[in-house]
Amino acid sequence: MQSLLTRDECRLVQASFAQVEPIADRVAATFYRRLFELDPGLRPLFKIDLRQQGVKFMEKLAVAVTALENLDSIATLVQALGRRHAEYGIAAEDYDTARVALLFALGDALGPSFDNSLRDAWAGAFETLSAEMIRAAEDTPHPRITRLRP
Ligand code: HEM
Repeated sequence: MQSLLTRDECRLVQASFAQVEPIADRVAATFYRRLFELDPGLRPLFKIDLRQQGVKFMEKLAVAVTALENLDSIATLVQALGRRHAEYGIAAEDYDTARVALLFALGDALGPSFDNSLRDAWAGAFETLSAEMIRAAEDTPHPRITRLRP
């Protein structure tokens, strides 16, 4: 799995994630609120309770953040997550919307310490994960989509 981050950027992301972990529920709530403001069409794709979903999202993010310098250890997990997201109906462009929403939520939680270098590091971390999720989903076309093709 190809990382887009330098070692220093990995450290920045990890240190800032430690700061937001105690308020992970608030970060997740802001993330989903912003996500649905940016694209209300995404809302119906979420079937389970958003609080529960927020916990799952932040837990997987924690795993990924911890493994930023050792991405190969989580490649299988990230690829499976990407394939499941295709089944939920998530398209590649939705990852851009989610990146914007997550950066917003982190900025809201971290305040002025969320400066440009931290923002860039987080954008890179999200890109790194998204790229692998999207690639895995594209390598395994969803059966529903395959059926629609002639
Ligand atoms: C780094 C990127 C992401 C992570 C770590 C992540 C994490 C998760 C996790 C852990 C789940 C629980 C179910 C499972 O494990 O399969 C989930 C479900 C889901 N995610 Fe994500 N996700 C990411 C990106 C996205 C994006 C970009 C979207 C759409 C904009 C999205 C929409 C959904 C939806 C619709 C579900 C299903 C919820 C349900 O079952 O009701 N996710 N995600």
